[in-house]
This record gives sequence, C-alpha cells and structure tokens, in this order.
Amino acid sequence: KTLTIGLIPGDGIGKEVIPAGRQVLEALPSSYGLKFNFIDLKAGFDHFQAAGTALPEETLSALRSECQGALFGAVSSPTTKVEGYSSPIVALRKKLNLYANVRPVKSVDNGIDRPVDLVIVRENTEDLYVKEEKTFENPDGTKVAEAIKRITEVASKKIGKMAFEIALRRQALRDLGLKSIHSSPSVTITHKSNVLSLTDGLFRETIRNFYDNHLDKFESIELKEQIVDSMVYKLFREPENFDVIVGPNLYGDILSDGAAALVGSLGLIPSCNVGENFVIGEPCHGSAPDIEGQNIANPIATIRSTAMMLEFLGYDKAAAKIYEAVDANLIENKIISPDLGGTSKTTEVIEDILKRI
Ligand code: NAI
Ligand code: MG
Repeated sequence: KTLTIGLIPGDGIGKEVIPAGRQVLEALPSSYGLKFNFIDLKAGFDHFQAAGTALPEETLSALRSECQGALFGAVSSPTTKVEGYSSPIVALRKKLNLYANVRPVKSVDNGIDRPVDLVIVRENTEDLYVKEEKTFENPDGTKVAEAIKRITEVASKKIGKMAFEIALRRQALRDLGLKSIHSSPSVTITHKSNVLSLTDGLFRETIRNFYDNHLDKFESIELKEQIVDSMVYKLFREPENFDVIVGPNLYGDILSDGAAALVGSLGLIPSCNVGENFVIGEPCHGSAPDIEGQNIANPIATIRSTAMMLEFLGYDKAAAKIYEAVDANLIENKIISPDLGGTSKTTEVIEDILKRI
C-alpha cells in the first residue's frame, strides 16, 4: 500500500524535526507492506512574511485531494496581533474538521521517571479557539475586550465518544499484554462547570449523557470528573491515577503542556489531530525560537506523532515498531538531547532511532 503524506515543517524547530518523521517512515522494514510518497507543503509565519498568507490554498488543496495524512511541525504566532495573520494549525483543524487532538503522555521505565500513562483527548475545533474576539470602549473611554467561548453538543458528543473509544482500545492493548500501570479503563471529564455552568456545563452533561446512553458498550469504563484547577493539582500529585482525560480545547491545550513536565520534556510529547477522514500528526511543542537552528531540538515528539498518524490510519503494527524504537532509545538514556540532560544533536537522536527501526 502506498500512502501519500503531506509534510508541513512550518517555522523554527519545525523545520528541524519534520525530516525525522519522513525518515522513520522511510526506514520501516518492507515487511510492513507500506510505501510512502511525500509532498512538501508550506504554512507558517515565515511563509506569511514572504508570501502574505500563512496557509496557502495549495497546501489545503493538496491535503484534501492528494494526501491520506500529514505531519505538521510548528508555527510561530506572535503574541501581539499582526494584521492578516492567523495561526494555520488552528485553521487547518477547523477546515479539515479534525475534531480531536489526542495527546498521550507516557513515561518509560528508565529508573528516573515517575510512572505516568495517560492520554489527554482535547476538543479541537471550538471553545475559546473560535477566536471571535472584539474590543470596544466604555463610555468613560476605558477599553474592554471580549472573546466567545463556544461549546456545542455535537462537538462535545464526538469528543466524548472518541475518549471512550480510546479508553477501550488502550484496555484492549493491555489485555493483549502491553505493559501499563493501569489495570482497568477510566475517563475523567475536566471542566469548570461550577463557574461556567452553561458552556462547560454543556460539555460535561453531553459526555455524561452519551455515556449513560451507551452503557452497553462503555460499561467497563469508570467515568470520573475533575474541575480543571484541581485537575492540575492532581495531575502533578498523582498522575498515575489518570488513564484518559477529556476536556474542552483550552484546558486540553494547557493540561497537555503541563503533563509533559511529568515525563521530562515537551520535546517527547506527540499528538494526532483526528477527523472522520483525515489525520495530522503534530508534536505538542511550538517553534521553540530559543533553540532553533542549533540542531538540539528533541525529535522524539515528532517521531511519536508520526507513529500516531500511522495508528489512526489503521497501521498499528508499523506504529508499534516506531514506539518501541523510541522507548529503547529512552530506556538506554545515552543518545539523548539536551532537554533530557544529554549532549546529543537532533540528527544523532534520529540516527539512533532509525538504527533501532
Ligand atoms: P514552545 O513549545 O515552542 O517552547 C517551550 C519550551 O520548550 C522552550 O524552552 C523550548 O525550547 C522547549 N522545547 C519545545 N520543544 C522542544 C523540543 N522538541 N526539544 C527541546 N526543547 C523543546 O512554546 P513557546 O515558547 O510558548 O512558543 C514559541 C512559539 O511557538 C510561539 O510563536 C507560539 O505561538 C508557537 N507555538 C506553536 C504551536 C503549534 O504550531 N502547534 C504550539 C505552541 C506554540
Ligand atoms: Mg499548545
């Protein structure tokens, strides 16, 4: 089978880590029966400055008409408003209806990390990320800014369903012998519906109702909930108690960077943007301008995101091969990048993992 994969490096270290994704796919032994075509695609702030658009129409149409999946590096988004610029990954998630962002955080058995094996399932198309903001002035001339937080029943139900399905799938893999700290599946809904009773309330109730109406399928899953601020506390105090966490867009974004701190580095944490017919693997980190151009970015988040892309396209065995190669590198703990306390270069870490594949 030949898969066509779009490669969107974007800005900063995105350009240094996306080649790793391509290389691991090319390194997969032929016994997996997969061949790859790659299409290099543009997006990001550099491209915006050069060409006036952050997400060219050609990128979107190539993804839609030619690719089965894609890998996205990172883009830089200025913290102050730049006229005409808007983050292309946020746009891509909406335009391709990639409604779920799945972010596993798992420690390896290297004698350093505390045991963590959780996955954050983040709603990916709405909440405050609809970016409907406006400013106006009070009669006394002082400024006000407002943003819409939109939660819909349709999106909440879809993300809830995805979280339960992932919990079952993780349990199925454990039943097949995959080592884990969990022996039974759970899903924790995180929200702030004690304050935002209409918006987060709808998120919470929709997922609870969905669960109640599908007990035949999801009965084995324990449904829990945790208000988002104490969720942060518990995540750091007792990460081993969480299996699948489902949350609205903003909380999911924040919790996943936080959870990364539990396992040593943001440079380890992958994600996959998942829709009905398309997937984009994407490291959780950003363009990391503080380390760009030095060949020291950790490529593992991207390599794991590549494996996730394969997994969501249905190629579990090939994905498992990549995960194992990464774990072996981390357990040996020798050829590792500076964010993990090592001295190896990005390219050396990639080489080591390619050898193991
Ligand atoms: P960041 O994730 O780029 O960096 C945070 C810290 O983690 C930095 O110290 C960085 O050096 C380190 N880090 C991140 N990835 C690493 C890796 N692979 N290896 C080693 N160290 C790594 O977040 P920050 O600094 O808040 O944002 C920088 C830019 O990235 C901003 O313009 C922001 O808008 C953008 N960004 C883009 C995202 C995307 O495209 N999906 C996601 C998050 C931020
Ligand atoms: Mg983020």
